[in-house]
Amino acid sequence: MAIPAPHPTTAPERSGPDLSADVLRRAFGAYPTGVVAIGALRDGAPDGFAASSFVSISLEPPMIAVSVARTSTTWPRLADLPVLGLSVLSHGQGAQCRRLASRAGDRFEGTDWQATADGAVLIEGAALWLTATVGAVYDGGDHEIVLMKLLTAELFPGVEPLVFHTSQFRELSPHA
Ligand SMILES: Cc1cc2nc3c(=O)[nH]c(=O)nc-3n(C[C@H](O)[C@H](O)[C@H](O)COP(=O)(O)O)c2cc1C
Repeated sequence: MAIPAPHPTTAPERSGPDLSADVLRRAFGAYPTGVVAIGALRDGAPDGFAASSFVSISLEPPMIAVSVARTSTTWPRLADLPVLGLSVLSHGQGAQCRRLASRAGDRFEGTDWQATADGAVLIEGAALWLTATVGAVYDGGDHEIVLMKLLTAELFPGVEPLVFHTSQFRELSPHA
């Protein structure tokens, strides 16, 4: 009879009390997430960035949260806008995601998007569209934890999400 392989099958890499930024980036990267594009119109042009820290918070009232780096130069341009769009990127949108996170050039180049009447920017082909207003902001160390109150949700259940894990974009696959 075959003996099941012990889990995990690769040798553990112990860092112990070493919680350096490099170790933490890799540790946090072991947790798979989706990625949302957060965007809004500013002076008629789309502005925004990619965020993997999106998390659902509350059904009543409907709330989500995102953790935003204090170093972000994009967030201060968005934080005061009345409505933001959040698009859960789909499995084919890894390249667009990298561009939406780039520090140089037009982040929306090569990405089809639309704007709502209240200025939220939503990415075509995404797996979910949300619009939201910024609520309370909490201290999160070198990040800010930003609560957002949801205004609208549009679901695209047939669209598979992009998965971000160990610094790579992946796709969901059914469990064997
Ligand atoms: C997959 C991915 C996930 C990211 N998630 C976050 C996030 O949750 N919070 C954040 O502040 N920045 C996140 N970023 C970085 C931003 O997308 C963007 O690169 C950063 O805002 C650039 O700095 P700037 O705002 O000063 O231009 C992520 C980048 C990538 C590629």
